[in-house]
Amino acid sequence: MKSIAAAVSIAAVAAALAAPAPALANEALAKKHNCFACHQVDKKVVGPSYKDVAAKYAGDKGAEARLFEKVKKGSVGVWGQVPMPPNAAVPDADVKTLVKWILSQK
Ligand code: HEC
Repeated sequence: MKSIAAAVSIAAVAAALAAPAPALANEALAKKHNCFACHQVDKKVVGPSYKDVAAKYAGDKGAEARLFEKVKKGSVGVWGQVPMPPNAAVPDADVKTLVKWILSQK
């Protein structure tokens, strides 16, 4: 019985690792870190819509790294004179996930 339990738990871990991160998880992450206080996916609010950001940097291979820095340290002058304050408290891994998700908007 023990080996069956082990096999089942290995299968469960494998399934969890193989599953692509669902869009909802990324939205929840954006919500958790307050990005939606100023952004929406498809509408400009205080900051640009994430669809506009994705369109602006489509095909730009360096965009992911640059936007990572922008989100961490803040930004001004790209979309207007309203600044984005630094999001220094957001963990690097979460910023990476968020930037990837933003750039994948269509
Ligand atoms: C207080 C409002 C505010 C919050 C909170 C905020 N942003 Fe922004 N964001 C802005 C504004 C305003 C801009 C446009 C800045 C500019 O013109 O350079 C912007 C721009 C951006 C850009 C594009 C930067 C560029 O150089 O084109 C990305 C990506 C982004 N935000 C992601 C995020 C993420 C991820 C979060 C949450 C961790 C977040 N923002 C939280 C206001 C905000």
